[in-house]
Amino acid sequence: MGRQAIVLNKSFSEMAGALNSSLTAAEKLNCLVQITSRSLGVRGCSLMLLDAKRKKLIRAATYGLSDRYLRAGLIEADKSLPEVMEGKTAVVVDTASDPRIQFGEMARRERIASIIGVPVMCRGKVVGSLRAYNRIRREFTAAEEEHLITVANLAATVLESSGTLVPAEGPVSTESKTTPRRPAVRSPVRSVSFAHPSEEDFARLLDFYQIEWVYEPRSFMLEWEGDKVTEMFTPDFFLPGLDLYIEMTTLKPGLTSEKNRKVRRLRELYPDTKIKLLARRDYDRLLSKYGHGPLAGAKTEGVGRILFSADQIQTRVRQLAKEISQDYEGRRILLVGVLRGMLCFMADLMRYLEVSADVDFMALSYYGGESGGEAVQITKDLDVKPAGRHVVLVEDIVDTGMTLSFVLAHLGARHPASLAVCTLLDKKVRRLTDVPLAYVGFEVPDEFLVGYGLDYREEYRNLPFIALVGQEA
Ligand code: IMP
Ligand code: MG
Repeated sequence: MGRQAIVLNKSFSEMAGALNSSLTAAEKLNCLVQITSRSLGVRGCSLMLLDAKRKKLIRAATYGLSDRYLRAGLIEADKSLPEVMEGKTAVVVDTASDPRIQFGEMARRERIASIIGVPVMCRGKVVGSLRAYNRIRREFTAAEEEHLITVANLAATVLESSGTLVPAEGPVSTESKTTPRRPAVRSPVRSVSFAHPSEEDFARLLDFYQIEWVYEPRSFMLEWEGDKVTEMFTPDFFLPGLDLYIEMTTLKPGLTSEKNRKVRRLRELYPDTKIKLLARRDYDRLLSKYGHGPLAGAKTEGVGRILFSADQIQTRVRQLAKEISQDYEGRRILLVGVLRGMLCFMADLMRYLEVSADVDFMALSYYGGESGGEAVQITKDLDVKPAGRHVVLVEDIVDTGMTLSFVLAHLGARHPASLAVCTLLDKKVRRLTDVPLAYVGFEVPDEFLVGYGLDYREEYRNLPFIALVGQEA
C-alpha cells in the first residue's frame, strides 16, 4: 500500500469513530471535513448544502478557511463548479484563470489555487457539494476523488439520519404544497416569491443592511412515526453570515404558540441550530424606524414615563468613563460616534475620561439612492484614519444590532489596533445579530425611548433625561 493509501485508510477509521459517537450531526460533519482536510493534506474542506430553490449553497461544515473567506458571500450553485449539480466531479486546476470560480479574488487572497468538488447525493438527488481546497495548482488523483466521494456519502447518511437535510421543496416535504404562494406585488426582492408581505418587507430590511439571506432554506424533521416523517418545520429565513434562522410570526396569534412549540422542538433536536422567532410587533417597529410598515405613521403625545433622570445618567456615564480610563491607561484612544443619537452621551463621556482621546464621527443614511437599491450607506466617513488606533465606538442605543454590525465591519476592515463598543443603552431583548459590547450603561426594556440625544422623528433629542414616548394618539 502506498503512503497516501495508508493515510486515507487511517482517516476512515477516525471518521467511523466520529460517526459512531454521541456527537451532534453538526459536530459529526465538522469532524468529517476536518479529517478529510488533514488526510488529503489540503488547505481546507467544506460541505455545502443547496437551499430550497436549489440556487445557493449554504455551508454546513468547514475546516481550514478564514472567516474573511467564509464571509465572501453565498455561493451560486450554477456559477461555482456547476458540474457538481449534475452529479459530476468538478476540478479547478487554477483558480486564477478558471471561470467556474465565483469569488476569484477572494480565493487568490485565501491562497486557494485549486479546488475539487464532488456532489453530495441523497436518494439519487444532488443535495450539496463537498469541496477540498489546495494551496498549489494541481490535478487531483483518482484516489483522492474516490476518497471525497466516500466522505460525501458518509456526510449524506449523517444528514439524512439527523433530518437536517430535506430541502424545503424536496421529495419528502409536504409543506411546500400546502403553503400558499402569493405573487410578488412590488418589484420582487431578488425574484423570490414570499408567502407573506411582511416576509418581503423583512427581506428588504436585510438587503438594506447588506445582510445576506436565504428564504425558506430547508426543512427540519420534527416528528417521526417509524420511518414516516409526520411533522416538518421550514424556517422563513436563514442568515448565513450570522448562522441564524429566523421564523416570523405574522399570522393569527393562535399560530404563534404553535410556532413557539416547533421552535422549541427544533432547538431540542438540533441544539447547534440557532433560530429566532420574530414577532409581528417586533418587526413592525423595526420597519417603522425607517418609515415603513403600519407604525410608520403613528403619532405620539409628548413624553411618557422617565426611565433615567439626568442625575442617574451622569452617575453612570462617569462610571463608564472610569472603566474606559482604566482599561486604556497610558494610551490615546479614538472615540468614534455615529451621528446623531450619541451626541449628548459622547459629549459627557469624553469630559469624564482620564486618557487622551481624539474624536471623530460617521454618518449613515438609511434611505436608498435613486437607483432603487435601498441600503444603509455611509454618508460621512471618518476624517481620522483608524488604522493602528485604539478605537472606541460610542453608541446611544443598540437595538437589533444591525447598525452596529455594519459599522463594526466597516471599521474592523481598516485595521485598528483595537476596537471596542461603548453604548449607553442596550435593548438586549431585541437583538438579532450578536455584537460584542464592552461597555454598557443601562439595559433597557423593549420600549421606544427619547431624550439625551435619542429622537422620535427628530424630536425630543434635547431632553436632559431618558423617557418613554407618550401614548399613541
Ligand atoms: P439597531 O440597528 O436596530 O441596533 O438600531 C440602532 C439605532 O436605532 C440607534 O442608533 C438609534 O438611532 C435607533 N434606535 C433604536 N432604538 C431606539 C429608541 O428606543 N429610541 C430612539 N432611537 C432608537
Ligand atoms: Mg445611532
